[in-house]
Amino acid sequence: MRRLFPVTELTVPPRPGGAPGGGTDAVAGSGADREWGFDELAEAYAYPSASGGAPEPWLRANMVSTLDGAAQHDGRSQPISHAADMRIFGTLRGLADVVVVGAETVRQEGYRPPRAREAFAARREAAGQGPAPAIAVVSASLDLDFSLPLFTAPLVPTLLLTGAAVAPDRVAAAEKAGARVVIAGDGTGVDPARAVRALADLGHTRLLTEGGPRLLGQLVAADVLDELCLTLAPMLTAGDAQRIAGGPSVAVPKRFELVSLLEEAGFLFSRYRRT
Ligand SMILES: NC(=O)c1ccc[n+]([C@@H]2O[C@H](COP(=O)([O-])OP(=O)(O)OC[C@H]3O[C@@H](n4cnc5c(N)ncnc54)[C@H](OP(=O)(O)O)[C@@H]3O)[C@@H](O)[C@H]2O)c1
Repeated sequence: MRRLFPVTELTVPPRPGGAPGGGTDAVAGSGADREWGFDELAEAYAYPSASGGAPEPWLRANMVSTLDGAAQHDGRSQPISHAADMRIFGTLRGLADVVVVGAETVRQEGYRPPRAREAFAARREAAGQGPAPAIAVVSASLDLDFSLPLFTAPLVPTLLLTGAAVAPDRVAAAEKAGARVVIAGDGTGVDPARAVRALADLGHTRLLTEGGPRLLGQLVAADVLDELCLTLAPMLTAGDAQRIAGGPSVAVPKRFELVSLLEEAGFLFSRYRRT
C-alpha cells in the first residue's frame, strides 16, 4: 500500500543515504509498498472528530467500481474487489457505529453479521462503541429471509429501516427474529434524511453505507452523503452493470474534494469529502 495523496515524504521514500527522490530503485525494497496494518488504515480513514457539543452524524459510502464504471460483475462486487480492498472494507466497518445497506445487496451478497475483530477491539472500546457495528437494512417490503444469521445471531441487533406503510406481518416476522424495526418514512419508502436522523437518535453517528447503487443514488440526491470512499479496480468489464449510484440524476452535479489516495496492486483507494 502506498499513499499517493496527500504527498508526504512517505509517498516517495528517500534514496538510501540520499535526499528524498523518485525512481523505482528507491521504492524497491524500501517498504513503501508493504501491506498496511489495520492501525495505519484506521488512522487513514478516521471519522472527523466532533468539534465540541453533541457529535453530528457523518455518512460515508464505501464502493468499488471498475475503470468503465461497473459496480458489479455477475451480480456481485467480489469479482472486482481485491485483498487490499477487503482490508479497507473491514477497516471502514471497524470504525463505524452502523452499516446502512439496501435490501437487494443483502439478498444478492448474502450479508452475514459483522464479527468482533481483535484488531479493532481497543479502538472501539475507547470510542464508546460496541464490539461490532450494527447492520441497518433499508427495505420497503421487508421481503428478507429472517431465518438468516444476520437477523437471528448478530452481536448487535440488526436494524430494519422502513416506511410507516410497511406490512405489519413483515414487521412481526422481523421482530420475532430479533431485528429492530425503525420507521423512517411516512409512506412505503424510507426518507434518507429521516433515516440519518433516526440512526443518530439511536446514538449512531459514525455512519457507513455499502450501497447498493439504488440506495446510494437516493442518499446522493437527498444530499445526506458526506464522504465517498471509492475503490477504482484496474479492470474493464463492458456490459450493462449498474454504476455505483443509480436512480434519477441530480439537477446539479454534487462537487466533492479529494482527501486521500492510496494504491496497491494497481487498485486506487480514494477518499472524497463533499465541499
Ligand atoms: N460496487 C459496490 O461497491 C457495490 C456495493 C453494494 C452493492 N453492489 C451490487 O449492487 C447490486 C445491488 O444493488 P441495487 O442497487 O440493485 O440494490 P440496493 O440499493 O442494495 O437495494 C435496493 C433495495 O433497497 C430497498 N430500498 C432502497 N431505497 C429505499 C427506500 N428509499 N425506502 C425503502 N427501501 C428502499 C428496497 O428494498 P425492498 O425491495 O426490500 O423494498 C430496494 O429494492 C448487487 O449486484 C451488488 O453486488 C455493489
